[in-house]
Amino acid sequence: MEKIEVLFSEEKINERVNELANSLYKKYHDEEVVFICTLKGAVFFACDLLKKYQGDARIEFLRVSSYKGTKSTGKIELNLSISKENIQNHNVIILEDIVDTGNTLLFLNNYITEMKPKTLEICTLLDKKCKREVAIDPDYVGFEVDDLFVIGYGLDYDQKYRNLPYIGVLKKDL
Ligand code: IMP
Repeated sequence: MEKIEVLFSEEKINERVNELANSLYKKYHDEEVVFICTLKGAVFFACDLLKKYQGDARIEFLRVSSYKGTKSTGKIELNLSISKENIQNHNVIILEDIVDTGNTLLFLNNYITEMKPKTLEICTLLDKKCKREVAIDPDYVGFEVDDLFVIGYGLDYDQKYRNLPYIGVLKKDL
């Protein structure tokens, strides 16, 4: 395996995910929430967050793809969809691994908004705010990151490294 520099340790991620789960519960505690996990990147984040979330929750999955290697192909494809009845009139929270240019999130936001949720918010583990190309911002952010290609805890480089328990940067990318 190539050399990896740790950016956020397992303990730090755990602590922050706990804080996010508590903030969300504070807002929604007496109402059910449909959490949408975006595959594959947000799967570790969604599982950990949902285990810590104390309110009524459902989970749905969406699969979108736009990246090859470390570059976005620019074309967003929806590979797995959700039926409208699971969204309409529900409180919905999109769980993202990372927001970069914002194109994927804008696409997802429009897709879900068309199904008329009662409320819609976005929670991302990582935010590369400095790379944003479109006007969309998440409501909840785990950590802000600089313009680096990060891996681990669900995030991949050509499908590798998703199983790392921490978030890091490949040394050659530093
Ligand atoms: P956006 O459409 O440019 O905001 O890209 C969002 C998607 O690109 C994320 O959901 C990730 O799948 C992928 N992505 C963006 N930056 C990184 C990174 O640093 N590491 C791994 N995947 C990334």
